[in-house]
Formats: sequence, C-alpha cells, structure tokens
Amino acid sequence: MSAQIISGKEVAKSIREDLKREIEELKRQGVHPGLTVILVGDDPASQIYVNMKEKACKEIGIRSEVIRMDQSTSQEELLKEIHRLNQDENVHGILVQLPLPKQIDEKAIINAISPVKDVDGFHPVNVGKLAIGEDSLLPCTPHGILELIRQTGTEIKGKHAVVIGRSNIVGKPVSLLLLRENATVTITHSKTRGLKTITKQADILVVAIGKPEMVTKEYVKPGAIVIDVGTNRLENGKVVGDVKFEEVKDIASYITPVPGGVGPMTITMLLKNTIEAAKNIHHLK
Ligand code: GUN
Repeated sequence: MSAQIISGKEVAKSIREDLKREIEELKRQGVHPGLTVILVGDDPASQIYVNMKEKACKEIGIRSEVIRMDQSTSQEELLKEIHRLNQDENVHGILVQLPLPKQIDEKAIINAISPVKDVDGFHPVNVGKLAIGEDSLLPCTPHGILELIRQTGTEIKGKHAVVIGRSNIVGKPVSLLLLRENATVTITHSKTRGLKTITKQADILVVAIGKPEMVTKEYVKPGAIVIDVGTNRLENGKVVGDVKFEEVKDIASYITPVPGGVGPMTITMLLKNTIEAAKNIHHLK
C-alpha cells in the first residue's frame, strides 16, 4: 500500500480562490482588507518570505504594504511604527517578520501589536484564547496543518495525535488545536524517552523538529496520517522534510510532501487571517 499524497499546493490554491471571492464581496460592502508587513534588516530568507507574502496578497486582492527598516533600527523606533499601524483604520493585519536584529526584544514587539490585528496569532491574548477555546486569530502554520488533516476526510475526534516538537510557533499551538478537535494529544520533544514507542501509537503524526529525515518508517504506525512540517536544506542543495518520505509513504495512509505540503498553507492562512481581522474590525461575519 502506498499513501495518498496530500498536496498542500493544490489545497492552498483552492482556498485562495475562495478567499479571492470573499474579498470581492467585502469590497462591495466597502471593506478592503489590508496587510502591513514590517521587515527589519536584510536577512536573505526573511526577504524571500516577505516578497512571497506581498505577492500572495496582490494575487487575491488584499492591499499590502511592506515597511522596510534598517538593520540598526532601535526597539523604540519599531514600537513607534507598530503604534501608528495599530491606529491606522486601513490596516487590518500587522506582521513583523522574525527574527529581529539582536538589539530588539521580540517579546516586546509581539506584545505591542494590537491582538485584533495580530495575523500571526503570536500575541499572548490570542495564544491564551486558543488555550481556553475562545475564537481568536489562529497561528498560520498550525491552522494550515489542521486544514490538511481535514482534507483527508478523516474524523479527528477520538484519534491519537502525536506531535513531535513543542515550539511556540508550531508544536504547542497545533497540539492545542488538535485537542480542541477532540483528539487525544501527546506532545513529544527532543528530551522524550522512548520516542518511537510513542509515535508508533499515533493515528495522526505531526512532525516539527527540524531534523532532516529523522522520522523513518520505524516511527510510524501503518495507516497513520503523517504531516511533515520540516524544511531542511541538505548540503547538496536538496530540500527535505523531517520525515523520510520515500519509506514512510509506503506505510502511511496520507502523507504531506516537502516541498509542496505544509509550506504553501502557511501564507494561505495568513491571507485568511487578514480577511478575518478585517471582518472583525468592521463587525462583519
Ligand atoms: N519568520 C519565520 N516564520 C515566521 C512567521 O510565521 N511569522 C513571522 N512574523 N515571522 C516568521
């Protein structure tokens, strides 16, 4: 048996078409969703991500603006910019691209973004709401992962979901989302003992550890859904996930590829959050 491949690329495309129609409708109601991205410094990977975000906004009709600030920008200057954007009625989403230069405290910046405009879902208010099950802007990658699992048509309720990784960006929030869907959730990480024994019990296995091809078929129960969040560039230039795709695909029921799996969903959920924020701000549903 060979797993069905969940194409994040295709799912993302289809969701973006729906979002495009939703924006046309919002515009008819006088609301034009707008996202502002702040990029501080010249980290090459961040530049690529920010360009991708800008392009994705343009393609579906979200107004987008990128504010580029110098590497030497002080925390004060960045906070001032955020305060201005918090007040700007035409800005519905604010995203500060991470990582930030070392003179700036990331936490102070995330805390300064108005929770209603926090399209990354990183503000403690949004994280807290997710934890207690209130509606909030959801972090993009975890939300994208949930959509990919839903795509398989598998009921999440009652399933054993095992997450490898406990980062604030992926592992922790995806665990909370799966719990909210009534999965039985086990969170594992680099210090977990007997990892294979635990992951072997997973009906749904979410892998977000950042170690190239670490998860081999010995970690996977036959028939499991395997979601690979890793993006690792090998010395030979090849991009691989945290899962050894070629062998795990033979025993999983569904598996996401890298690239073309979780990656394209992250920006899609950012677009969705920007629309959500615009609707919330204008009291539309
Ligand atoms: N840098 C890498 N991933 C992300 C993300 O999801 N949001 C922000 N703001 N910065 C990032």
